[in-house]
Amino acid sequence: MQTADIRRRWLTYFSDRGHTVVPSASLVSDDPTLLFTVAGMVPFVPYLTGLVPAPYDRATSVQKCIRTLDIEEVGKTTRHGTFFQMNGNFSFGDYFKEQAIAYAWELLTTSEADGGLGFDPKDLWVTVYEDDDDAARHWRTIAGLPEHRIQRMGKADNYWSMGTPGPAGPDSEVFFDRGPEYGREGGPAADDNRYIEIWNLVFMQWLRGASIGAHDFEILGELPSKNIDTGMGLERVAFLKQGVENIYEIDQVRPVLDMAAALSGRRYGADPEDDVRMRVVADHVRSALMLMSDGVTPSNEGRGYILRRLLRRSVRSMRLLGVDTATFGELFPASRDAMKDAYPEVETSYDRIGRLAYAEEETFLRTLASGTSILDLAVTKTKGAGTGELPGDTAFLLHDTFGFPIDLTLEMAEEAGLSVDRSAFDALMLEQRTMAKADAKSKKTLLADLSVYSAFRAAGETVFTGYDYLDTDSTILGLIVDGASVTSASSGDIAEVILAETSLYPESGGQEADAGSIIGTGFDLEVLDVQRPVKGLVSHKVQVRSGEVGVGDAATSVVDREWRRGATQAHSATHLIHAALRQTLGDEAHQAGSYNRAGYMRLDFNWTQPLSPATRSEIEEISNNAIRQNLEVETRVMPLAEAKALGAMALFGEKYSETVRVVDIGGPWSRELCAGTHVGRSSEVGLINLVSEASIGSSNRRIESLVGIDAFRDLATERAIVGQLTSTLKTPREQLPDRIGELMASLKAAEKKIAEFESAALSQRVPALADTATRIGELSVVSASVGELASADDLRALAQGVRTRLGSDAAVVAIAAEVKGKPAIIVATNDAARQRGAKAGVLARAAASILGGGGGGKDDLAQGGGTDVAAIPAALDAVTGELAR
Ligand code: ALA
Repeated sequence: MQTADIRRRWLTYFSDRGHTVVPSASLVSDDPTLLFTVAGMVPFVPYLTGLVPAPYDRATSVQKCIRTLDIEEVGKTTRHGTFFQMNGNFSFGDYFKEQAIAYAWELLTTSEADGGLGFDPKDLWVTVYEDDDDAARHWRTIAGLPEHRIQRMGKADNYWSMGTPGPAGPDSEVFFDRGPEYGREGGPAADDNRYIEIWNLVFMQWLRGASIGAHDFEILGELPSKNIDTGMGLERVAFLKQGVENIYEIDQVRPVLDMAAALSGRRYGADPEDDVRMRVVADHVRSALMLMSDGVTPSNEGRGYILRRLLRRSVRSMRLLGVDTATFGELFPASRDAMKDAYPEVETSYDRIGRLAYAEEETFLRTLASGTSILDLAVTKTKGAGTGELPGDTAFLLHDTFGFPIDLTLEMAEEAGLSVDRSAFDALMLEQRTMAKADAKSKKTLLADLSVYSAFRAAGETVFTGYDYLDTDSTILGLIVDGASVTSASSGDIAEVILAETSLYPESGGQEADAGSIIGTGFDLEVLDVQRPVKGLVSHKVQVRSGEVGVGDAATSVVDREWRRGATQAHSATHLIHAALRQTLGDEAHQAGSYNRAGYMRLDFNWTQPLSPATRSEIEEISNNAIRQNLEVETRVMPLAEAKALGAMALFGEKYSETVRVVDIGGPWSRELCAGTHVGRSSEVGLINLVSEASIGSSNRRIESLVGIDAFRDLATERAIVGQLTSTLKTPREQLPDRIGELMASLKAAEKKIAEFESAALSQRVPALADTATRIGELSVVSASVGELASADDLRALAQGVRTRLGSDAAVVAIAAEVKGKPAIIVATNDAARQRGAKAGVLARAAASILGGGGGGKDDLAQGGGTDVAAIPAALDAVTGELAR
């Protein structure tokens, strides 16, 4: 049974039983406390907690998921995948335990001919939470399972939550017995390799809080209703139904594994270690493909980092399979072809995905080369020191800067016969992780914080009138102070205001929140921020400027005109630049993010190369031309499918509702899905001045522009600077670059001349210095202080000059000077002096110790320095004293 067939049977079964079929949400979760969608229920969390009223009582989905907690297990077990699909059926306050168990049993055991999954009842076992007698009873009566095949387990196994505060509940899991050749008798409690978990039924009725230790957490209270959340592992059922040994061998994954085998020339099944490597490649390539099709790009933090790690682990596994050239060009298309039936977007956006993946592979192969030379150097040094252990900070540097997974370092060190100081490495990693965690914590909003909004949201959505009106009369529905709902707020208070209607734009789609005020009889509130804390509900953060405001009061939202005009100009400018960018670079250049406020916009887009100055100018010119053409801006609300058919640009990974707003500038010239505010005609944008274009990470670039009057002011400033230059240099504007070039060249020539003069002046001092030579024993010794010199090089040249002048009789020269405010000394000896035992290095060190610093060098020439200029005479005495000895 193909994976697609299992999926189809699932959706048909539940849709026939009144469940709304909900398409898979993006892997990039909306929930700020999660990096990725980790379970089928994630998109439904607001319905499970009652924060947002569920639009249906029953739903079913096949949800894309990513979990990387057990990444080290991938390939080693039968069932650990970083990407997987979870088939789910959900009830929001509708059916509960009994019906959920009845559905599960029926679908699992109905024959394939009758549309079921065709499992033999005698192969199925279940577990229930320790005190869940109800669930156990239903399994006995509905499924007729004997007592010994219903096992009871504790909180660690049979109580499910997302691992973070949110909905939770006891669960019941269904297992398939693969038979005695796979392990011990005794059910899932005894052996989780023989008995494979295929389906988890969660009885969601509690709200959990913070964790207590690894497997426990506090329960905050009951959810508003009793819900069902189930998850059947599509890959697991597929491998059992396809008669293969593990999830890496199913139809959606195996082609990549085979490709890895073909590329390496090794056979799958011949060597257990190689098998693990091939499975890792098959798993990781698929996960990376799916992540990139949801808009994730490789980077050094957050989601992008996880993606990068998957890509690098794939490269490394191929390397361990003996391939050190690029392979993504074969591996990714193999995965694309296996996944495109279920997810057509992996094919339609493959150009972009491929470009990202190949670039990342190329970079990592290069990094691998430079990291390897760092490692080689460290290996030589470690061997030289005779410790046999590579320092932890080298391993950390390789990990942090070169992206070497620690096991790669371990293995390469081992090849060189060394171990690695693992505990020092771990300590550094821990330090880094602790910092990252503290950082992440400060950014999270916990679900519990949001509960205050649920009562307001239950009353309906906030109506946004701001597309058509700047002021709107409405009513105060709620006030929140310090996270709690209150009835009034007075002068000086900071509060959140919930209105029935508002003209104030909440921050979204890259556009900043409106500035403005909320006024009513006897009060005036200054708006500090406007957000949508939960879908459909607008909250205004305000400071009460004067008076007292109460729930139920009539109030008018008033948008600051100038602010809105600037933001609107900037947002329309973003669309113009985006269109110009795609005209210039092609449809491949896709927006990855944007931000706009009055006078300024920035746009991030997927692109790996810097733009040439000519391309930059072209983008700027096309967008300014669109302004000049005074194009009409039209907004329409329509079904998502219709908007897509019209070719409206949507953001990767963005979740859109069923009805969307389409903004056209000049008809199809620019057509985007967008909820932002826009000008009426393009000419109102005024002017776009593209001020920068730079890289942000390896796969994205950022364009920044000034807009409207700010664009003009920036150009005016530049003009003033050019005006100053033309008058100072007495050169017409167009000749400025040549003129400055000439000036730079003549300055360079002058500097060269000065240096020549200085060195001539220096050599003129040589004879007089040589004449000061005195005799110490058989040696002719010059010991002199020459005042200030420009550099240590001059001092060295002088000492060498004097030494030459003294000829071949044994001679020692020690010359000291003040260089840039510090004392310096050079000692030079000739052959004859060295034969008599004079060593420049020893003498320079003796002098330097008096100067308050260090020194050293060879026997023929050495240098010393220090801090105490006044000690120069004493330092020279130290040299002569040493020679006299
Ligand atoms: N949410 C449950 C799970 O992920 C079904 O196992």
